[in-house]
Amino acid sequence: MPETLAKDGKSNLPMGAGLTALDEDYRENLYQVLDDVRERAPVLRDTELNHVFVTRHDDVKAVLRDRDLLVDPRTTLPGDYVRLFTPDAESETYEPSMLFLDDPDHRRLRGIVTQAFNPRSIEAMRPRIEAIAKELLDEMEGKSEVDFITAYAAPLPTIVIADMLGVERERRADFKRWSDDIVQAFDPLRGPETTARMNASQQAMRDYFTATIAERRAKPGADLISDLIRAEEDGAKLNNREVLSMCTLLLTAGNVTTTDLIGNGMHALLTHPAELAKLKADPSLIVNAVEEMLRYDGPVTDSGRHADRDIVIGGCPIERGRTVTTSLAAANHDPSVYPEPHKFDVTRADTHNQSFGGGMHICLGAPLARLEAQVAINMLLGRFPNITLGREQAVRRHLPAFRGFERMVVTL
Ligand code: HEM
Repeated sequence: MPETLAKDGKSNLPMGAGLTALDEDYRENLYQVLDDVRERAPVLRDTELNHVFVTRHDDVKAVLRDRDLLVDPRTTLPGDYVRLFTPDAESETYEPSMLFLDDPDHRRLRGIVTQAFNPRSIEAMRPRIEAIAKELLDEMEGKSEVDFITAYAAPLPTIVIADMLGVERERRADFKRWSDDIVQAFDPLRGPETTARMNASQQAMRDYFTATIAERRAKPGADLISDLIRAEEDGAKLNNREVLSMCTLLLTAGNVTTTDLIGNGMHALLTHPAELAKLKADPSLIVNAVEEMLRYDGPVTDSGRHADRDIVIGGCPIERGRTVTTSLAAANHDPSVYPEPHKFDVTRADTHNQSFGGGMHICLGAPLARLEAQVAINMLLGRFPNITLGREQAVRRHLPAFRGFERMVVTL
């Protein structure tokens, strides 16, 4: 039987929005929905949104690491899934970030920022991250209940990345708003109002960075924007539009995702008191605990690739230019790889996961995200050891490809 059909012959497999966080069942019962899809149609052709949805761990891993596969939306088929969220891909002004570029541009752009994000450079940021966490914890002091996302998980990564880019303190709130609006680009079904907000924020951020790049060009400082400009002057050829698009990518890629790692991770701990107790008793478990948080309830549910030729995955033929969406969330819960995949265990021996993607586009910010989550969670538990979930039910965000909480009230 072709792998694209449910093995039991029924057609009630989720499709379209049903394979995204726009759907309530997918949001609230994600891992059950994905288990069912993986079991019945591990390579599922979604005929509503025009992509192929892959859920087996080994298929996901192989697709992400296949050096022949592509990411540039301009080489996908007209009407393909990725085109739905990059409608301007054919316009002359389209300036994709490296997340949507193939070699040689991808290699050139990534080479320029790699150093700033290597584990050594990131480790050097530890004291600064601790200082930011302390400042936020001080503000929470004396309150009995707070929305954990607004008070802590959201501002921390924004301040870290804004600091790296050398953005003034007064602009942090704008930055947060812009990046929240811009990630809506990943919603292929967004309405005109959201699109208008997204475009306005994109323009505001572009204006801000254009002015800042000009200022730093005249008066360079010890910040990442100045480094990007210098790299251009050393002959590595980053043009103004590329510097701008890199700044936008760094800000947006690192914000919601790291917020969600801290938010989902704390939610997992607070709903598993025995695991929370283990971590409180031995804070050095945090490194393993964060890896388990990434696996158990990671912030990015899927990524994608396509081929410049017809290919076959899991016995299923896939046409040239058709997006293959890799379900990172399904891979991380594949029972053929993880014993008791739905169990949250901060001491799990094998926590390897697909949450940062893989291959040439593997997340550049992974060392930073890990460090931020480790520092943020341990400092929080040190300051508020009796933290519990509040009575109000935590509310999940509705953004396709991402997984996190919009609001999560905690009692301190
Ligand atoms: C827990 C937090 C994060 C998660 C789960 C995450 C996840 C991902 C994923 C799944 C990809 C695509 C990988 C692929 O398709 O193979 C990616 C790419 C990327 N991420 Fe992250 N990310 C996180 C935090 C960050 C941070 C903090 C930054 C930087 C400030 C960042 C910067 C990037 C960049 C620049 C890319 C594009 C890399 C490329 O195309 O070569 N991410 N991330």
